Amino acid sequence: MTDFDNLPKIFNHHFSAMKAENHPITALTAYDYPTAELLDGVGLELILVGDSLGMVVQGKPTTIGVTLEEMLYHCNMVSGAVKRAMVCLDMPFMSYQANQDEALYNAGRCLAEGGAGSVKVEGAHIDLIRRMVENGIPVLAHLGCTPQSYHQLGGYTIVGKDVSQAKQLLSDGLAVEEAGAYALVLECVPTEVAQTITGKLSIPTIGIGAGPHCDGQILVLHDILGLYHKIPRHVKVYKDLNAVIRRAISEYKQDVRRGDFPGEDNYYRLDKATQKAWQKVKKAK
Ligand code: KIV
Repeated sequence: MTDFDNLPKIFNHHFSAMKAENHPITALTAYDYPTAELLDGVGLELILVGDSLGMVVQGKPTTIGVTLEEMLYHCNMVSGAVKRAMVCLDMPFMSYQANQDEALYNAGRCLAEGGAGSVKVEGAHIDLIRRMVENGIPVLAHLGCTPQSYHQLGGYTIVGKDVSQAKQLLSDGLAVEEAGAYALVLECVPTEVAQTITGKLSIPTIGIGAGPHCDGQILVLHDILGLYHKIPRHVKVYKDLNAVIRRAISEYKQDVRRGDFPGEDNYYRLDKATQKAWQKVKKAK
């Protein structure tokens, strides 16, 4: 048995081994240095610099407006903090769909400039995934509800609710595995369908709103910490940091208004000798 918790660094090939050895994969998103450092310190296997950045950090209504430059900027902060986990850069809308050469070049930038160890693409882009993998770029696939297709899907919907959709998901899952993806994110997929796909693939499935039978789970950090206002049903809020932060800011405001801040410990004094000299200067004026 591999001691996955003590691997010095997690690479793409470790993910299938985790599945084979029943080691559940834990993953969250991060967008900056301090949170990435926390996640890595806790020992998550995968840190996704998600394009959910657009919604939870930039306050946009969807992920569609996020640019590759923005993703590279944030991924750079994250990869600067992470020593062990796999850092995956979520390729944003239209950075990989229009043309395969451009997509490959952009994926290369994610590794070279963003410092990522892999990229994620939404949808069954089988030939593209194969080309990326052949060119040394590990790929995390993403099927089910793919948020960059918000307009095409008609919102954030559950995908795989009828047999023909479920069959399509299964064949796409087998195809991304065959193309070389190291793992597959399944988003908002009925649990029975996710369970079947998980059973048929040898690469791990990482679920978000896809039930307990996936090989791992991923959520958006801001959602589990109560820092985003729209919380989908599949999210568990582990801590309401919104309330904690509000309380801290209100206390600060009250302290400043009452004159309780800054207190003795929060400012600096001249040393005795300089105080005397300063008195003289004051008097001379
Ligand atoms: O953008 C994102 O954060 C994601 C995950 C939630 C899977 O794609």
